[in-house]
Amino acid sequence: MTKSQQMSDLKTEIVLCKKCPLFQSRKNAIPGIGSYHSKIFMIGEAPGKQEDEEKKPFIGRSGTILAQWLSSIHLLRKDIYITNIVKCHPPNNRDPSSLEISTCFAYLIRQLTIIQPSLILTLGRHAAKALFSLCSLPFTSLQNHHGKLYSITLSYGTVRLIPLFHPATLCYRPSMKKILYSDMQKVAKHIH
Ligand code: URA
Ligand code: SF4
Repeated sequence: MTKSQQMSDLKTEIVLCKKCPLFQSRKNAIPGIGSYHSKIFMIGEAPGKQEDEEKKPFIGRSGTILAQWLSSIHLLRKDIYITNIVKCHPPNNRDPSSLEISTCFAYLIRQLTIIQPSLILTLGRHAAKALFSLCSLPFTSLQNHHGKLYSITLSYGTVRLIPLFHPATLCYRPSMKKILYSDMQKVAKHIH
């Protein structure tokens, strides 16, 4: 089966999924978006309200910031694959629970195994924590890990991982702008 057939089968499963409580309140489960041949794989937290309605990840305020981050290092959204640690919108934008994250994680692993990226960028604490835990790396805080390069082993090989803050950080902590953009410069060193 080609990558695109495998991703299409997976998409069908995700949109019908009722494996965790989030299925009750979501409008749409959102598998992800982007090129299946991308070497860069980005993992956010969870679809927001607007994403839930329009069926695409990162199209609201966080999406606008993300597009600016990407363009600061000459990347386009279409050059990367973007998904979330949970595929359904948590009610009132609450944090996803550990049960929801661990249940949905199987889909993320399958997406990674099909796409086989060489660089994973996590956005926010939840995605970083889940990837660290998968590889038995001790997670302390995003403050400590952000912008650093880690090497992790997945079923298909060794992959680089750079944890980043979530784009929404800029909305409630504008003073972090410099740090967030300097992390993107670190990402740039590993892609160009
Ligand atoms: N925030 C996320 O983490 N993911 C989205 O898809 C949208 C906002
Ligand atoms: Fe299924 Fe994931 Fe949605 Fe839960 S969040 S219902 S596991 S797709």
